[in-house]
Amino acid sequence: MSDFIPVARTSDIPDPGSLLVEVGERLVVLLHAAGHFYALDDVCTHDGGPLSEGPVDSAAGTIACPRHGAKFDLRSGAALTMPATQPTKSHVVKVDGEQLFVRLSDG
Ligand code: FES
Repeated sequence: MSDFIPVARTSDIPDPGSLLVEVGERLVVLLHAAGHFYALDDVCTHDGGPLSEGPVDSAAGTIACPRHGAKFDLRSGAALTMPATQPTKSHVVKVDGEQLFVRLSDG
């Protein structure tokens, strides 16, 4: 189990919005929607599209892949619409004051 790693300030990400960060060797998209923060791998499971370049829908709680439009659940990373069928990995976010931390779910 990895530790919580400081990745950004809460003010770095508009609501709704996203920010691409590197956590260790991994590209992670931090997401801000309806006052909550989430973290997903920056990889669409359809064909590797960069989720950090897609729009966040805070009412629906989703982010859409900019390549072919597959939508993923911000909380769980579940693939909600075609053409993606597999979830992308979600990571744990901790907020401490203004600081955001991420703990990778598989190190
Ligand atoms: S690469 Fe994301 S929907 Fe195709």
